[in-house]
Amino acid sequence: MLDPEQPLHVYEVKGGVPPSYLDLEGLLGVWPEADYTYLFFTAPADTTLRSFFREHPEFRLTRHYQLDYGQWQQIAPQEPLVIDRFKIITKQQQVQLAPGEILLWIDPGVIFGSGLHPTTRSCLRALLTLYRENKPSKVLDLGTGTGILAIAAAKLGAASVEALDLNPMAIATAAANCRRNGVAGRVRLRKADAHQHLPAAELVCVNIHFDFLETFFKGTKLCRYRWAIVGGFLIQKLQEVVELLPTCAELKEPKVEETGWVTLILEIDRQRMRPND
Ligand SMILES: C[S@@+](CC[C@H](N)C(=O)[O-])C[C@H]1O[C@@H](n2cnc3c(N)ncnc32)[C@H](O)[C@@H]1O
Repeated sequence: MLDPEQPLHVYEVKGGVPPSYLDLEGLLGVWPEADYTYLFFTAPADTTLRSFFREHPEFRLTRHYQLDYGQWQQIAPQEPLVIDRFKIITKQQQVQLAPGEILLWIDPGVIFGSGLHPTTRSCLRALLTLYRENKPSKVLDLGTGTGILAIAAAKLGAASVEALDLNPMAIATAAANCRRNGVAGRVRLRKADAHQHLPAAELVCVNIHFDFLETFFKGTKLCRYRWAIVGGFLIQKLQEVVELLPTCAELKEPKVEETGWVTLILEIDRQRMRPND
């Protein structure tokens, strides 16, 4: 894990920069997001980027953030982070596990999914709730980030997990985390856009922004699964999300709430699909 005081220089670039253009000196990683690409460096990269923009005038630097790693990941905890039965560590250390506790060793690097964010926390809790009564064996994790939900599902008993992310840096980070947790043989990682690639599974976990959910809920995509765990939106959006749900999806109560964010557990029954769904 990076030192919390490690400086980070994050350059926001307008436009989706293809990975093949990014053989840049000192580049720590790349985070594509909608119409922007965020480039992470541990030292100022103004000179490198000046020549990059000269060669590629189709891209434009919009912002430069300077912060330290601790601020970026909201300070990686030194103590294990406990979320219900999950105990999360960011570096190798001796930990005492109470009966039933599950250890997750997640080094997030600069990727989303350390366990600190309320959406991740509520998705982890939703996984525990679902696995209490059901045992989905085949799981799909859309927008895996650090791989935290995929790893948690594997540790809860899933025999195979497929995990996707748009961001190649997330895939590399998740791969390292799967090895750390001894589940690399059961988690298949793939750099892919979940708008286009939706493999079959019993359970699908989605913790991606609201705009993604809007398209994911259209048509019958969701109806191919047996269960879904859907997070990534604020409580103010709950009604809108519920109205978007296809008829095959039944909302299980209770919803999992975590400081203003909501995660839904859905049980899906194809029989409830209407002809025009
Ligand atoms: C909020 S993070 C969730 C990370 C982790 N699953 C968790 O629960 O903490 C969302 C992730 O989805 C990825 N993502 C966004 N849109 C995507 C898409 N269309 N297809 C695949 N991944 C996507 C982002 O790169 C990011 O890593």
